[in-house]
Amino acid sequence: MVKATVIGAAGGIGQPLSLLLKQNTLITDLALYDVVNSPGVAADISHINTPSVVKGYLPPDGGLEKALTGADIVVIPAGVPRKPGMTRDDLFNINASIVRDIAVGIAAHAPKAFVLVISNPVNSTVPIVAEVLKKKGVYDPKRLFGVTTLDVVRASTFVAEAAGQPTESLKFRIPVVGGHSGVTIVPLLSQCDPKVQLDQATIDQLTNRIQFGGDEVVKAKDGAGSATLSMAFAGARFAAAVLDAASGKASSVHEYTYVDLDSEAGGKDVASKLGGNLQYFSVPVTLGKNGVEKIHPLGGMSEYEEGLVKKAVADLGGNIEKGQSFVAKSS
Ligand code: NAD
Ligand code: LMR
Repeated sequence: MVKATVIGAAGGIGQPLSLLLKQNTLITDLALYDVVNSPGVAADISHINTPSVVKGYLPPDGGLEKALTGADIVVIPAGVPRKPGMTRDDLFNINASIVRDIAVGIAAHAPKAFVLVISNPVNSTVPIVAEVLKKKGVYDPKRLFGVTTLDVVRASTFVAEAAGQPTESLKFRIPVVGGHSGVTIVPLLSQCDPKVQLDQATIDQLTNRIQFGGDEVVKAKDGAGSATLSMAFAGARFAAAVLDAASGKASSVHEYTYVDLDSEAGGKDVASKLGGNLQYFSVPVTLGKNGVEKIHPLGGMSEYEEGLVKKAVADLGGNIEKGQSFVAKSS
C-alpha cells in the first residue's frame, strides 16, 4: 500500500503530474490537495482504471491534514511560477511562506514521508523544508529531495539534438549537478555517456541552453507561466524512481537530486571538493529503501566545468542561507 500526495495538484504542473502518478501502479492511494479545484481534478482522474484510489482535498475541514495523513511520498508543485523577466529568486517572497506552511503540515501529519520539492526557487525552498522539519524534530535528510530531474531530461534532449541524433535522446546520459537556477545548474558534458565529441563553441551553447532552458519556456509561454508538462514528466519520473527504490522493485536506482550533503557520508567528500561548507547540492545519488542510500563523487571534470562549479557554489551559498534564515525568523 503506497499513499502519494500532491500538494498544488490543481496547478499547471499538479494536474499532469497527478495524471502521470495515477499511471504508477505502485501507488494505491492518490491524494490531491490544492487551495482551489482539487475535487474536480480528483473526480476526473479517479475514473482512470489504474489501481490507485483518488481523493481531492481543499483547505476547509482539515483538508491538508487528511491529504497528508499516512502519505509515503509527498510531491510539492505548489506556488507561483515565473513570468518573462523574472528570476526564480523573484518567486521567493510568495513561495517561501507557501512551502513553509506545507512543511509544517508534513511535520505534523507525514513526518516519515519522502518529500519531493518542485516549488521554486528550489535552491531555497529545500532548505526551508529542512529547517521546518528540524524545528519540529522530525528531519530525516535522506528523505528530502529537490527535484532537478528536468535539468537532466533537458540535457539529454539538447545533447541528442546537437549530436545530430534527435530521436536518440533517451540514450544520452549527462550528469547535471549544482542547483536549479541559471548558473547554479552545471551540466557535466565531459561525462556524457555515450561520449560525444563537441567543440568548445557547442559546449558553451549547450551549457547555456541547459542552464537557461526554463527561460526558453517562460519566454515561449509569454506570461502564461513556466514549464508544466515537461516538469510533470520529470517529477513523475523522479517520484517513480524514489518509489521503485523504496519498494525494492528496482535495485540500485541512480538519479541526480538536490539534497542535504549531510544525508550520507559521501556528501562530506562532495562538500569538501566544493570548498568546505556548502550544505545542499544536486549530486549523483543511489536511492534505496530509506531514500538517499549513497552520494557519489561528482567525477572527473574539465577545467571549464570546474569553473562552472565555482560560479554555482558562489550563488548557491546565498540561496541556501536565504531559505534557512527565512525559517529562523518565522515564528
Ligand atoms: P501554477 O500556478 O499553475 O500552479 C500552482 C498551484 O499551486 C495552483 O493550483 C495553486 O492553487 C496552488 N497553491 C498555491 N498555494 C498553495 C498552497 N498553500 N497549498 C496548496 N496549493 C497551493 O504553477 P505551476 O506552473 O504548476 O508551477 C508551480 C511551481 O513549480 C512554481 O513555483 C514553479 O516555478 C515551479 N517549477 C519548478 C520546476 C523544477 O524544475 N523544480 C519546474 C517548473 C516549475
Ligand atoms: C524550469 O526549469 O523550467 C522551472 O524551474 C521553471 C522556471 O521558472 O523556469
